[in-house]
Amino acid sequence: MKKVRAIMIGTGNRGTNYAERAKENSPEFELVAIADPNPTRRDYVQKLYNLPGSACYDDYREILSEPKMADMAIIATQDKMHFEPAMMAIEKGYHLLLEKPVAPTPEECVQIAEAANKKGVDVVVCHVLRFSPFFMTIKNLIDEGRIGDVMHVVHTERVGNAHMSHSFVRGNWRNSQTSAPMILAKSCHDMDILNWLIGKRCTRVQSFGSLTYFTRANMPEGAPEYCVQGCPAAENCPYDARRIYLKDRMFIQQATNSKNPTDEDILRAITETNYGKCVFQSDNDVVDHQVVNLEYEGGATVSFSMCAFNTGGRRIRIMGTKGEIIGNMSDEYVTLFDFMTRETERVMISDAVQDETINGGHGGGDSGIVRSFVQLVAGEYEGKSITDIDTSIESHLIAFAAEEARLTGKTIDIREYKKQFLKEIQ
Ligand SMILES: NC(=O)c1ccc[n+]([C@@H]2O[C@H](COP(=O)([O-])OP(=O)(O)OC[C@H]3O[C@@H](n4cnc5c(N)ncnc54)[C@H](O)[C@@H]3O)[C@@H](O)[C@H]2O)c1
Repeated sequence: MKKVRAIMIGTGNRGTNYAERAKENSPEFELVAIADPNPTRRDYVQKLYNLPGSACYDDYREILSEPKMADMAIIATQDKMHFEPAMMAIEKGYHLLLEKPVAPTPEECVQIAEAANKKGVDVVVCHVLRFSPFFMTIKNLIDEGRIGDVMHVVHTERVGNAHMSHSFVRGNWRNSQTSAPMILAKSCHDMDILNWLIGKRCTRVQSFGSLTYFTRANMPEGAPEYCVQGCPAAENCPYDARRIYLKDRMFIQQATNSKNPTDEDILRAITETNYGKCVFQSDNDVVDHQVVNLEYEGGATVSFSMCAFNTGGRRIRIMGTKGEIIGNMSDEYVTLFDFMTRETERVMISDAVQDETINGGHGGGDSGIVRSFVQLVAGEYEGKSITDIDTSIESHLIAFAAEEARLTGKTIDIREYKKQFLKEIQ
């Protein structure tokens, strides 16, 4: 396969992850320049790819003001900073591997898609679950007709209580004004994977959910603003920052913005940043549990739940006219019950599946998406996980509609909803 030259915008957690995965699995991937204002994050990727200083920029505007220097760009900046670099990179003619969400508003999502289609560049959104051996195995079973027509899906996104506290109460995705509503930030993956598995258009959506637990009303008496200030409830609080970060050493790279943080770095982070805040006193507003009902063309239905209060990891049951698939993303198999034989088969997942956590590579999906995108740009992609920007916009719009349904209590007709944003409706 020919070499594929790439630039990277945002060398934070996700950018670094893609840089590492490409180094391991995509020898054709040649990173030629990077942009990030944070020297610690930028230096790590610079060293990994042995880049000269002249190939390292502080800002996406600088790198994208240069003449086009590569075939593709990876955009892995924060949610509210996707739109401008994406539009600039499309204008320059780069193919894009764009982190989700495409953008925090439906209008911006549609503008990116229109610009990409006009320019004729590929924009692939990092819907990494499509590239996980777990969901690829399930997709193949459905496509082979093993469970007949899909009638109903029960899909649960178990966010995990610690992950919830880290990312959605204390962290970057805690407030919908600075990032995006939970259904978009966390569950646009699920809206996409459900559309992909069912293979039909969603017609109607309903939703309920709220932020119920991580609020001031549940703050223990006498709790200080920061856990390190000596909280009287610390001993029995699973969210004590010293327990999560210093003792259990969870999420420490993100909390400290460092690859190999020391105890001092961690202590500094939980003393000086939001990661040390009492989970009942943050400025979070995103929901901690939500249900979404979806109806598809032909009558298939979905019951989707996102919930914080569990160990974490996705689970799915897909009920078809000829059988049922049950999968737990942390297992190495899915089960398939066949109505004719009345036998339950264990279908092994081809590659080892890692448990899905914020660091866990999404069950192999992070690695798969980079490899597949490089193949696509080289003109040698033969899989079925890659999708075009219009398909990703379709599932994003379902997420936006679900949020509207949650806020208004109404059932949203997806076709009518899309008319507000799209010139042509299919
Ligand atoms: N696909 C997935 O499953 C998945 C999982 C987690 C996060 N995400 C998404 O990935 C994106 C990045 O998340 P993250 O955790 O890596 O965030 P991060 O904060 O670790 O990384 C963002 C990087 O962008 C850099 N940046 C800021 N301003 C910049 C500028 N002007 N020019 C260039 N770079 C700039 C920051 O310094 C930082 O290093 C977010 O949109 C997030 O929602 C996707």
